[in-house]
Amino acid sequence: MSDSPRHAKTARLSVAIGLISSAGIVAAACQHSDEVLNAKFGAGITAPKYLVGLNPAEALKPTEVVITTPAPAAPAADEAGRTTCTDTPVGDLYKTDPAVYQEAQRLLAQMTPAQKVVQLVGLPAPSYTDSNRWEDIQRSEDDPVLKIAGYQWRDGPHGLNLESGQGRDPLKNWSTSFPTSVVQGASWDIDLVYRVGEAMGDETVASHNNVLLTPCMNMLRNPLWGRSQETFGEDTHHLGRIASELTRGLQTYVTGCAKHWLANNIETKRFSINAQMDEQTLRETYGRHFEMLVRDGGIGCVMASYNSVNGKKQTQNKHTLTEVLRYDFGFRGFVLTDWWAMPAQDTGQGPADPPNDLVVAAEALQAGLDVEVPWALNFDAIPSLVASGTISQQVVDQAVSRVLEQKLRFNSAKLNAARIYGNKAPQSTYDELQGALVGAVAEQHAQLAAEAAEKGAVLLKNEPVASTGVKALPIVGGAGGVKTVALVGATVKYQVTSDRPRVKDFDFVRHAALGDRGSSRVRPNPDLVVGPLAGITAAAAEKGITVISATNDSAKPEEAAGKAAAAAAQADVAIVIVGLTAGDEGEEYTGASDRQDLELPAPHNDVVKAVLDTGKPTIVIVEAGGAVNMSQWKDRPNTNAIVMAWYPGQRAGTALGRLLFGQANFAGRLPVTWPVDIKDFPKFDEGDSTYMDYYAGYRWFDVKNIKPLYAFGHGLSYSTFNYERLHMPCGQVTSDGLVNVQVDVRNVAGPAGDEVVQVYASFPNTTARRSKKELKGFARIRLEPGQAKRVSIPVRVRDLKYWDMVTSQWVVEKGPVLIQVGPSSDKLILQQTLTVN
Ligand code: BGC
Repeated sequence: MSDSPRHAKTARLSVAIGLISSAGIVAAACQHSDEVLNAKFGAGITAPKYLVGLNPAEALKPTEVVITTPAPAAPAADEAGRTTCTDTPVGDLYKTDPAVYQEAQRLLAQMTPAQKVVQLVGLPAPSYTDSNRWEDIQRSEDDPVLKIAGYQWRDGPHGLNLESGQGRDPLKNWSTSFPTSVVQGASWDIDLVYRVGEAMGDETVASHNNVLLTPCMNMLRNPLWGRSQETFGEDTHHLGRIASELTRGLQTYVTGCAKHWLANNIETKRFSINAQMDEQTLRETYGRHFEMLVRDGGIGCVMASYNSVNGKKQTQNKHTLTEVLRYDFGFRGFVLTDWWAMPAQDTGQGPADPPNDLVVAAEALQAGLDVEVPWALNFDAIPSLVASGTISQQVVDQAVSRVLEQKLRFNSAKLNAARIYGNKAPQSTYDELQGALVGAVAEQHAQLAAEAAEKGAVLLKNEPVASTGVKALPIVGGAGGVKTVALVGATVKYQVTSDRPRVKDFDFVRHAALGDRGSSRVRPNPDLVVGPLAGITAAAAEKGITVISATNDSAKPEEAAGKAAAAAAQADVAIVIVGLTAGDEGEEYTGASDRQDLELPAPHNDVVKAVLDTGKPTIVIVEAGGAVNMSQWKDRPNTNAIVMAWYPGQRAGTALGRLLFGQANFAGRLPVTWPVDIKDFPKFDEGDSTYMDYYAGYRWFDVKNIKPLYAFGHGLSYSTFNYERLHMPCGQVTSDGLVNVQVDVRNVAGPAGDEVVQVYASFPNTTARRSKKELKGFARIRLEPGQAKRVSIPVRVRDLKYWDMVTSQWVVEKGPVLIQVGPSSDKLILQQTLTVN
C-alpha cells in the first residue's frame, strides 16, 4: 500500500505559503494535506483560509504605560513598539512545519493498513462485561514496529483528572485543582490563564500523559447547563481570547483538545439532542470562538461533541467538521470523538450494529473525523472499507497524517522508555507508585490556584453597614473595628454516580469547593487544600480578628440555621457561605446533570435568613457554577455584601481570606449575565431538539430590552477608577487592520487594585442582523493608589465581521463602528466612532 501512486503523490506535497486576496481577507494558500480533502468535496468549498500576517500572540496582547498628570497626547506607538493602527492583518499562530509534514509522510509511507488504524482509534474494543478498564479508556496503542507512541489522554479542564486504576488508590491520584474554568473566565486575565495552562501542561508531561482534554469552551447560553462551570462564559470573543491564551500556555508542553465542537450546551439527552440553528448563528454565536482558538491559539486537537447539529450527528457532520472547522476556520490538527460519541447500538457504548458500523465509520471519516475513542468500535472497519472501495485510501491517510503531524509537533511521536513526552521538560514531581503529583512544584501550583481563585471572585454587592456608614468589605479590625466574625453555612449530603465515595458530606464552611465530579474531577493532595474556615481564620488573624464557627451535621440540616444564628449573635459581622455541590449540577453521567431552576437547595436560604434576623451585618458568599436565585435575602437591609466565588478550587480559603480582609482587592467580573428570573433567558431545554437563538447572553438581554440583575462584565472593587480619555488612533481602517484602542484609567480612591477595561463595538448603519453591542477587546490592568495608566487594547477589524447568509461569507461592513469603553457592559463611559473602509 505504501507505494501506491496516490499515496506517493500525497507524500510529495510540500508546504508553501503564498498570499492570495479574496473578499478583502488576505489569506495564505498553504499547500497542505487538507487540499486532498478539499478536492474531494469539490464545488462551493474554497481552500482552507490560512491567514498570514502579524503574530496573534503579540498583536492581540494589550499593553499599558504609566502616565503622568496631565496625560500626554497619544503616543505614536505603544510601549510594545506597535504603531497604534495598522492595516497589516493578523496571521495564524500555527503553521505546519514543512519538516514535520515530511516526517509524517515518511512514517505514513511505511505503515500497513493495520498500523494506520492504530493511529485512529483507542485500544481494541473490550468485551462489554469487562467493567474494570478505566485506565484503558484514555489511551491508544503504541506502534512497536515504527516506535510511535500511543496517546495518553487526560481530562481537564481545571487540572488533570489523574484517576488511573492500575492498582493505585484512586483517592490518592493527586494533581492541582485549579478553580473551575468559569473562575478563570471571570478573571478576564489572559496572563493568568496562560500560566494556568503552562502549569497544567507541566503536570501532564510529568505524569506521562500527552494530551490534555481542555479547553472546554462551549458558549454558556443558559446558567442551567450542568457544565456551566467548565466553560469560560457566554461571550464568543471573551471565550476565544481566554481559551487561546490558556492553550498557548498549555501547548508550550503538550497538545490541548478543544471541546465540545459544536453547540454542546445541554446535558439532558446530550447523546441524542439535536441543536438547531441557522448558519449565521452556527458560525458567529457557536463557532466564532473556536475559530479564534484555531487561529490565535493554534490548538492541536478538537473534540466532536455527542449532539447533532441541524439533524446531523456531530461525528458525521461534514459541514461542521470540514467545511466550517477546516475550510473556514483553518484548523490543521485532528478531530477526535467525545467518548463513545459515534452513533451506537442500544447500549450506547458499543459499536453500531453490523452492518451499520461500516456506514458509521465511512461517514465519519468522509465528514472529517480522524480519531474514534475510547475503543476501536467502528473504525476497526477501516481496512475493509478501503478494500471495498467505500472510502478512499487518501481519506484514511489524511487522518493518519493529521495525527502524526500533531504527535511530531508536540514531541509525542517517538516512543521513549521514560514515557516523558512534550516540548518542555517538566518541573513537577510525579510519584510513580502512588500516581500523584507531589513536591515543591505542587505547592507552587496550589499558590497559582489561589491566585486564580482570588482574581476570579466577583464582588456583586458592597453596601455600608448602617451602624458605621462604612462598606461591609473589606472587614476592618483595630480600634473601633470588627473584633469577631462568625463564619457559618450548612453541611449537606449529596450523591454522585461517577466518583468515590458516592455519598459525600460537603461542609460549606470547612471544605474547599472543587466543582463537578464527572470527567473534570480533580483530586488535590489534602495537605495542600485550604478550605474557607482555615483561610479566612488565617487572614483574619493578621488583622487581629477572631473567627468563630459552628459544626453542622448533614443528617440534621434543619439545625444548621439555628446554629448559624447562634454563632452570628456572638460576632460583630457574619459571613455565610451558600451554594451548590456536585450533586446539584454537573456532567450528565454524575447523575446531577442540568439544573431545573436557579433555586438554592435547602437549607441555605434558611441559614442566611436566620443570620439576617440577628441584625448583624452580613456578607454572603455564593459557591456555584453560575447564577442562583438570591431573592429571599438579597435586598434585606443587613445583607451588606455578596461575593460570587464560583467553585474556587483547592485554595478557596486563601483567596477568600485575602479578599475579605483587604489583603487583596476584588477585580473579577461576571463572564455571564445574571438574570432576575431564569425565564429571562431563551428556553433552555426543549426536549429532543432545541432551537439555538442567534442572540445569546447580554446580546439577548439587549435585543429584548430585559434588565438583568447583574450585567455581563459587572464586578465591584475596593477602589474607584476613573475613565479619563479614549483615544482612537485612526479615524479609518481597512477590514484587515488592527486598531490599538487607547484608554486612560486612573485609580482615584482606595487601595491598589486591578481594573478590567472592556471595549464593545456597535454598528449604527448595519443592514444585517447584529447584536446591539459586542465585546471586541479587554484588558486587566493593575493600578496603584492614585496611579493612571494608558492601556492599549487591540481591536482586530476582522473580529467585527458577521456571517452573511445570502452570500455565504464573512463580511466586515464598511462604514461607522461605534467603539464604547467602560468597566462593564452596562457602564460604557467613553465612546468614539471609527470608520471601516
Ligand atoms: C466528556 C468529555 C471528556 C470525555 C473523556 C466525556 O463524557 O463529555 O468532556 O473529555 O468524557 O473523559
